[in-house]
Amino acid sequence: MAPTLGNGFSIPVALNCDFSKEITLNNDFTMPTVGLGLFRMEGKDVKDILFHAIKIGYRHFDCAAKYKNEVEVGEALAEAFRIGLARREEIFITTKLWNSDHGHVIEACKDSLKKLQLDYLDLYLVHFPVATKHTGVGACTSALDDNGVLDIDTTITLEATWRGMEDLVSMGLVRSIGISNYSLLQTRECLAYSKMRPAVNQIELHPYFQRESLIKFCQKHGVCVMAHTPLGGATANTITFGSVSCLDDPILKGLATKYRKTVAQIVLRWSIQRNTVVIPKTSKPERLEENFQVFDFELEKEDMDLIKSLDRNYRTNQPAKYWGIDIYA
Ligand SMILES: NC(=O)c1ccc[n+]([C@@H]2O[C@H](COP(=O)([O-])OP(=O)(O)OC[C@H]3O[C@@H](n4cnc5c(N)ncnc54)[C@H](OP(=O)(O)O)[C@@H]3O)[C@@H](O)[C@H]2O)c1
Repeated sequence: MAPTLGNGFSIPVALNCDFSKEITLNNDFTMPTVGLGLFRMEGKDVKDILFHAIKIGYRHFDCAAKYKNEVEVGEALAEAFRIGLARREEIFITTKLWNSDHGHVIEACKDSLKKLQLDYLDLYLVHFPVATKHTGVGACTSALDDNGVLDIDTTITLEATWRGMEDLVSMGLVRSIGISNYSLLQTRECLAYSKMRPAVNQIELHPYFQRESLIKFCQKHGVCVMAHTPLGGATANTITFGSVSCLDDPILKGLATKYRKTVAQIVLRWSIQRNTVVIPKTSKPERLEENFQVFDFELEKEDMDLIKSLDRNYRTNQPAKYWGIDIYA
C-alpha cells in the first residue's frame, strides 16, 4: 500500500521487489515506472524496437517533437493497435513541446498528435524552460543569432506557456501536463503560477548527477520525477559530448557482480528505489529486455548509500555545445 503525502500524492515504497511497476500521478492517472526513450532512433529501427518493446511488456514511450521521429512512431503505434499488439488505453505516451513553439502550444500539440496518429497524449511536457525564436510549428529548430548564440525569445514567459499547456487539458487533447529540465526554482515558480499543477518534471538523473534537493522538492509537492538519461547517456553521450559514462564505474561494476545483474540494471533499479520513473533508450533488442528486468531484485540500503556517494553533480547532456550558451547558467 503506497503512503500518501499531505498533498494527496502517493509514493510507492519498496515493500517488495515488485512494488513499483506503476506510479500514481497527482491527477490520479498512472504511469508505468519503466518506459522506453525514443531519442536518437530513426527509420525502421523505430517500428522494430517499438513492436519488440510492446511484446515484452513496455507500456510507456517517451517521444518529443524534437526527436524528429513522431511520424515513424505514429505509424508503428497505429499498426500495433491495428494488429492487436496492444490497445491505445494500455499505452502511456509522452511527447514534448519544443523551445521554438512556446508561443504556439496548441498548434504544436495538434501537430504532434497528427504525426503520432493519436487523439490524445497521456503526457505533454515543456521540453526546456526556454522559449526561442519561432521557426514554424513543429519545425523544432534552434535558431542562432548573428553571434552563433541561441536566439532566446524574451517576450514569452513560462507562465504564458503553461497557460497553453493547461488549455490542452481542458480541450481533452492531453491527460497530464508537465515540465522538463526545470530547476528547483523554476519548478517552484511553475507551482506558484499554475492552476493545474505539473504532474511530472523530467530531468537528467543518474548516479553521477543525483540532484537530491530537486527530487526532494518535487516529491514533496506532488510532482513525479522522471529520470531522463537514466544510464548517463552511456556511449551516446560519450560520442556526442565526450561525457564520462557511469556504466564504466568500478563500484557499480562491483554491485553488478554482487547482485548478478548488469550495471545498467543496477543503475535503473537504484533510480526506481528513489521513486523516480526511468526511460532508458536502446536500439538493441537484448538491451530492451535487460533494461526492463529490474523488478526481480532490490538494492540493500547500504548499497543505495554507496551509490549515493558516487554523485559528481555531473551533467552528461551539454546542449551549450550547439547553442553557444549554457541555459543552466
Ligand atoms: N527531456 C530531455 O531534455 C531529455 C534529454 C535526453 C533524453 N531524454 C529522454 O530520455 C531517454 C533516455 O536518454 P538517453 O537516450 O539520452 O540516454 P540513456 O538512456 O541514459 O542512454 C542511452 C545510451 O545507453 C545505451 N544503452 C542502453 N541500454 C544499455 C544497456 N543495458 N547497457 C549498456 N548500454 C546501454 C544506448 O545504446 P544502444 O541504443 O546502442 O543500446 C545509448 O547509447 C531519451 O531517449 C529521451 O526519451 C529527454
